[in-house]
Amino acid sequence: MSTDPNARLAELEGRAVLGGGEERIARQHQQGKLTARERIDLLCDPGSFIELDKFVTHRCSDFGMADQKILGDGVVTGYGTIGGRQIFLFAQDFTVFGGSLSGAYATKICKVMDLAMKVGAPVIGLNDSGGARIQEGVESLAGYAEIFTRNVLASGVVPQISAIMGPCAGGAVYSPAMTDFILMVDQTSYMFITGPEVIKAVTHEDVTKEALGGAHTHASRSGIAHLASPDERACLESIRELLSFLPQNNTEDPPLRATQDPIDRADDALDTLIPPDPAKPYDIKDVITRLVDDRHFLELQAEHAQNLVIGLARFGGQPVGIVANQPAHLAGCLDIGASVKGARFVQFCDCFNLPIVTFVDVPGFLPGTDQEYGGIIKHGAKLLFAYVEATVPKLTVITRKAYGGAYDVMASKHVRADLNYAYPTAEIAVMGPDGAVSIVYREQLSSAPDPVAAKAAYVAEYREKFANPYAAAGLGYIDEVIRPRETRTKLVAGLRMLRNKRQANPPKKHGNIPL
Ligand code: HXC
Repeated sequence: MSTDPNARLAELEGRAVLGGGEERIARQHQQGKLTARERIDLLCDPGSFIELDKFVTHRCSDFGMADQKILGDGVVTGYGTIGGRQIFLFAQDFTVFGGSLSGAYATKICKVMDLAMKVGAPVIGLNDSGGARIQEGVESLAGYAEIFTRNVLASGVVPQISAIMGPCAGGAVYSPAMTDFILMVDQTSYMFITGPEVIKAVTHEDVTKEALGGAHTHASRSGIAHLASPDERACLESIRELLSFLPQNNTEDPPLRATQDPIDRADDALDTLIPPDPAKPYDIKDVITRLVDDRHFLELQAEHAQNLVIGLARFGGQPVGIVANQPAHLAGCLDIGASVKGARFVQFCDCFNLPIVTFVDVPGFLPGTDQEYGGIIKHGAKLLFAYVEATVPKLTVITRKAYGGAYDVMASKHVRADLNYAYPTAEIAVMGPDGAVSIVYREQLSSAPDPVAAKAAYVAEYREKFANPYAAAGLGYIDEVIRPRETRTKLVAGLRMLRNKRQANPPKKHGNIPL
């Protein structure tokens, strides 16, 4: 070791930057993964990252660990900027003890989380770790719990984003699970509570790591991942994009972004996009992309519970959260998956002051024993609860069907939505004409000489009376029946009118959302 102070510092810095050494860095690259520092360089604005705790080492002396101290101890922590805005981050370094978490390592992560809370800035975690460092025992478990505690206390205060870029198993999954967004990389990341070997031993099931907890599985089946990226670069780019929609913390508004897209842009194609036949599907994403700034819609959980579409976009530069029934999937019915997906997103938007724009075309809740036994009552209630509780501006557009309880749930006037629009094609009723007529006119239909003709007549009468927006508009439950082509203009104007909306819920410790 050099006696020249500057040379000594340079030498120590050089060692810290090498992490687990060149061999392990090469192995990381062979596996198609970048190193922690390479990831940070891609994520942050060039030259903006400032590292903290570069020389921290672990405190373990068991299992020969006293001789194996690596500067930084397997996690790179610090702060930088993304799009010119402050962020804090930690990046787990798989080249050091497989990125496994020691007490000292956890303390480093807690330090940046605490700083982020003090200054009110997002926290990003790049996860790539073998979990609790086995040699450290309970000290590692304590470290995890310290991080979990901070995840919970920071929830709803600063945005928290987790990228999974390697293994993330056992209890370690719970830190990402409590953050706002999880992004995964295809083929090189996985998350599970118990791995394939334990599953084989306990349940005799054969499953690969990828099938059990890879990006595709969590983006589609479980819905755990909000975004799945083809590679690490795309994943890091998605984090940058996601942040561009979000405020720094819960006391700020999301950043406005100037747009060249005219706020009064009318789109004639919208007038014919919704099929007048209520049984005909269409893709609600065609409607959304035609309306938002620059046709840019960042869809989240796109492969999961596809009957409800969620994502971020801008109207006249104003970031919003969008929730929309998807008639092209399960006819847009609400089921367990869609309810949970929507509820969490509505809560997220409310936490971070993102107005919510809801597009409604919903025939109701999905019937079936699967749904009832699975607890649709409780899960559907989550979506209702989240919408009622949300105090951000809420704007609703009923494009076609709004039936039954689903009408109430989907940001109706009665759950404190601020502006409710309906297209002339809207049908707002307790149920669809067919079902309603079969119940209300059961006796008449059974004694009619020509039941088919009689039913057609009753359906036509019902349609005339209820299957339109005018009964609801007559009661003031719909503020305006609008032409589809003018939707963008109306939404931009509504969002601007509501920009200074202030609404508070009754004081309480917290509500009791039906979990
Ligand atoms: C200490 C670990 C480690 C760990 C990996 N390493 N995991 N060291 N504690 N948890 C070390 C390895 O010894 C190896 O060191 C290096 O990291 C790379 O590991 P490999 O096994 O060579 O890599 P790979 O083949 O890619 O496999 C990665 C892996 C595997 C799948 C993550 O290492 C693994 O199964 N590790 C154990 C995972 C685990 O059971 N963790 C505890 C989970 S429970 P050398 O020196 O050879 O390079 C948990 C509880 C959290 O995390 C509790 C929160 C409440």
